Amino acid sequence: MIDGDIVIRRAKKADVCEIAVIENQVFKDPWGESGFVDALFYYPGTFFVAEKNGHIVGFVTAGIEDTGSCVYGHIMNLAVIPECRNSGIGAKLLQRIEYECLVMGVDGVSLEVRVSNIDAQNFYLNRNYSQVFVIGNYYKDGEDAILMMKWFEQDD
Ligand SMILES: CC(C)(COP(=O)(O)OP(=O)(O)OC[C@H]1O[C@@H](n2cnc3c(N)ncnc32)[C@H](O)[C@@H]1OP(=O)(O)O)[C@@H](O)C(=O)NCCC(=O)NCCS
Repeated sequence: MIDGDIVIRRAKKADVCEIAVIENQVFKDPWGESGFVDALFYYPGTFFVAEKNGHIVGFVTAGIEDTGSCVYGHIMNLAVIPECRNSGIGAKLLQRIEYECLVMGVDGVSLEVRVSNIDAQNFYLNRNYSQVFVIGNYYKDGEDAILMMKWFEQDD
């Protein structure tokens, strides 16, 4: 665990290399640097990093999707480095992305999580997300995803 305060701020291009290193350690099917450059280009308002003592220790990206009947934020990626987990950083990143999505007028937020990733499912369940349905063969290695969703109240 690194000592120091956590700063949640918008991601910038200079962060991409550090973010991709973390992603590579955490996820089996990483986007790589080009995926994060694209995310910054298309959704600069919903891409945040958690910084501690000048080092990135976590990040979250989301897109905004409009189905015609509703608009929702789609969390594409959320990770905290293993040494800094269970200290509230993931919750801070989630709170910030939800807030930004809400400001953009979304009806709710969705995300996909591996069926085997029970810790992350519990993390989201504890923050008012519901398991909506399973998407078969969602990941490159054939694993299914659970789609989770949190709806915002009209007057939130
Ligand atoms: C899911 C993930 C982002 C959570 O990040 P995190 O920083 O550990 O999250 P938090 O610390 O906010 O919360 C985790 C738990 O620690 C607890 N916690 C928070 N602050 C704490 C503290 N100061 N002391 C002890 N425990 C604490 C929280 O209560 C929480 O437990 P809960 O869900 O039962 O409430 C992280 O585990 C991760 O990167 N996993 C790998 C990638 C992944 O699976 N991403 C999600 C799929 S997209």
